[in-house]
Amino acid sequence: MYQSYRDGWVETISGCMFAGKTEELIRRIQVLQFAKKEIMVFKPVIDNRYSETKVVSHSGSSVESYVIEKPIEILEKVTPTTQVVAIDEVQFFDDSVCDVANELADRGIRVMVAGLDTNFRGEPFGPMPKLITEAEFVTKLSAVCNCCGAPATRTQRIVNGKPASYYDPEILVGASESYEPRCRHCHQVLNKPVIKFGE
Ligand code: TMP
Ligand code: MG
Ligand code: ZN
Repeated sequence: MYQSYRDGWVETISGCMFAGKTEELIRRIQVLQFAKKEIMVFKPVIDNRYSETKVVSHSGSSVESYVIEKPIEILEKVTPTTQVVAIDEVQFFDDSVCDVANELADRGIRVMVAGLDTNFRGEPFGPMPKLITEAEFVTKLSAVCNCCGAPATRTQRIVNGKPASYYDPEILVGASESYEPRCRHCHQVLNKPVIKFGE
């Protein structure tokens, strides 16, 4: 009658900026808090936009978190009774976060990660693409294009009122003063190398 199966998997929440990734992560955390699960929340030290210690969405919802420099610190902090691990802004970590996520999932922990899948160039961002391929459950959220209203899948970086150059640094912490959501057709990257097919 009753089947028993082992807990432990990885789920991702990805998409462009202003798609509600952190909002969705916090919603899942709150559901699990109601269910009395033992949860630990982590974020990288680099993300100090809205709070030093909280994971905060653009719309203002928040949960307390451990601020860490390296993914290995997650393994040092989890306890034998931890049931859920949530990580926000996962694009800022290196690929070792994939090993940590898999280790936790193998131990029976539900791992929820949220982050950007692409950078301002529209190219894969950090460990997120690898996490998506290794995860059991994948959610990709979209925002609304600031130019045409279509579903937005890219993040436009704007510097001094102009689209950023392809050769600008990958990391620039910020929010609506530097970034806006755009669709494929409205997304612009200055100096982007042109691909010549058939050469
Ligand atoms: P958000 O997805 O929670 O809105 O936050 C994304 C963070 O990533 C924000 O601080 C801006 C930063 N970011 C970069 O550093 N490089 C990029 O190419 C993009 C698109 C965002
Ligand atoms: Mg966020
Ligand atoms: Zn558009």
